Amino acid sequence: MNLQPVDVKDFSPRIFHLFDDQWLLLACGDFTTRHFNAMTVSWGSMGTIWNRPFVQVLVRPTRYTFEFMNRYDTFTVSAFAEPHRNALSLLGSTSGRDGDKIAASGLTPVASRKVASPGFAEAELILECRKLFWQDIDPAHLVDPSIEDHYPEKDYHRMFLGEVVGVFAR
Ligand SMILES: Cc1cc2nc3c(=O)[nH]c(=O)nc-3n(C[C@H](O)[C@H](O)[C@H](O)COP(=O)(O)O)c2cc1C
Repeated sequence: MNLQPVDVKDFSPRIFHLFDDQWLLLACGDFTTRHFNAMTVSWGSMGTIWNRPFVQVLVRPTRYTFEFMNRYDTFTVSAFAEPHRNALSLLGSTSGRDGDKIAASGLTPVASRKVASPGFAEAELILECRKLFWQDIDPAHLVDPSIEDHYPEKDYHRMFLGEVVGVFAR
């Protein structure tokens, strides 16, 4: 699918639907060396910080993608139409540690236009991001104690903020 560049100031996604219902695919690594991984994410945000547009994703340290997010300085988040939900379910329930789950998903990694991390040919939206900041969730700062229910293994997420350097949409 041929995606067109969109001015970030004109980009107005249904943000809560996008994360919570549609889900996104986080990809990180280097397309040229084929060293990358991808996982489904549904927790995160988009906004403005330090006068720059950003995407925030949250990655548990147990994910294989976590290693890539620490090592590489770019990532992409991609959205897909409903027929690709099974692919996102697979990429969100199996680990790249255990085999080539991206091939198994049927999705096609493609070179990004501005970052080393890949996008996907089947995506209807791709945000290309350059890593700006990371911080671990500090359980001491959980104001609502019920949030602990998300962490029976104490594997608190690391949040990553990436500057949006490219938006490509249908
Ligand atoms: C709908 C959905 C949303 C998810 N959101 C997140 C998320 O925001 N952060 C996270 O760490 N894991 C999330 N996961 C779990 C990872 O995608 C999953 O553990 C994946 O298998 C990790 O793959 P990896 O080991 O190859 O990195 C989600 C899974 C699904 C199905």
